[in-house]
Amino acid sequence: MLAPLQAPVCEGRVNYQSGSPMTITESSQSPETPHAPLAGRVDRIPAFRVVQVLERAYELERQGCHIVHLEVGEPDFPSAPAVVDAGIAALEAGYTGYTQSLGLPALREAIAASYGDLGIGAERVAVTTGASAALNLLMQILVNPGDEVLIADPGYPCNGAFVEAAGGTVRGVPVGASTRFQLTSEVLAAAWRPNTAGVLLASPSNPVGSTLTAAELAAIGSFAAGRGFVVMDEIYRGLVYDGDGTPPCLAVDDGFFIVNSFSKYYGMTGWRLGWAVVPEWAMDALDRVAQNLYLAPPTVAQHAALAALTPAAMAVHEERRQIFRRRRDVLLAGLAELGLPAVYRPDGAFYVYADISRTGLDADDLCARLIEEFGVATTPGTDFGTHRASDHVRFAFTVDEREIRIGLDRLGAALRTLGGTS
Ligand SMILES: Cc1ncc(COP(=O)(O)O)c(C=O)c1O
Repeated sequence: MLAPLQAPVCEGRVNYQSGSPMTITESSQSPETPHAPLAGRVDRIPAFRVVQVLERAYELERQGCHIVHLEVGEPDFPSAPAVVDAGIAALEAGYTGYTQSLGLPALREAIAASYGDLGIGAERVAVTTGASAALNLLMQILVNPGDEVLIADPGYPCNGAFVEAAGGTVRGVPVGASTRFQLTSEVLAAAWRPNTAGVLLASPSNPVGSTLTAAELAAIGSFAAGRGFVVMDEIYRGLVYDGDGTPPCLAVDDGFFIVNSFSKYYGMTGWRLGWAVVPEWAMDALDRVAQNLYLAPPTVAQHAALAALTPAAMAVHEERRQIFRRRRDVLLAGLAELGLPAVYRPDGAFYVYADISRTGLDADDLCARLIEEFGVATTPGTDFGTHRASDHVRFAFTVDEREIRIGLDRLGAALRTLGGTS
């Protein structure tokens, strides 16, 4: 949660008294460690930098600083009232035991129904502990040791960890403006190798916020048919700002493995609930792995999620989507004025991925100085891959317009001080 605005505002500089400045460390094991060694794969799973930034922001807030949170991909709204009420009612009704491993039948039905005319059967829906568990389960059933999985660079960083945990290796494929920072069938054709098992896509994407068109999805489907799997992460599908939203990927290709979540559009990050839609032939495998790894998704959250899909809650979610759209426009305009243009005007999600190369600073340095000296928390491009990562910073518009404007003012002051533009 944000520190209230009445808290001491760091006028230009964060006035923390103690505590070490933010340093971003990679995991490492000392050869002299006296305890049993950790598994080697741990060293191939880097820290999720945005979490480190967030922790540093909390630490500074505890010291009385006011931090503008432009780092974290978490809606600042509480869950819709109907969702909260349903959660409380579930607790009061004593729904505190396990559910079926694939989730409450009623919730699976409701999720399936949310795909409307596509006629997705509930038997293809698995309710999971966030999109994170859906991604983990899918990698467990799709990836063999030695397999390679392709992801976009820049892309969602945790995807690599799910692939590694399944014994595979992940390869980030550099993407740029010519494909709206997405992996297209042409990019995949050039990158595909004999040991490539599949690809992980996201639309809208994190950190860029671009969407794949129906034609692009169809081409990807044709390319991948007979070659490997396609996992499509649609966690931001509800949060599209221009037009009437993107059609579900399943409308284009029924063979894709779909991941979604109650975290973002439904504002339920802390309830830890998501889902996967998989082809029928894969469901038994997914169920067996889910039973073993998780037993069941969180029960109270599932009852709350049933309410998240009702018209009352959906009206709240829609209202919030409009608020996010206005925030996007404020942030985009402000960053452009400061000479930090977005690499792409985001169609969806709640991030602006901006080119900071004109500052002459490296993204890690800039982000560290922004939080330490100016009280603005942001995420360096190095969290999302290696391709021109140091030239980019991700700004999340998950705080209100007033906070975004304060953040922009501080950013302007930072650029003047640090020798960048503005
Ligand atoms: C693209 C993407 N996929 C998956 C997740 C994980 O979300 P969840 O909270 O549902 O586990 C995130 C979270 O930021 C994300 O951005």
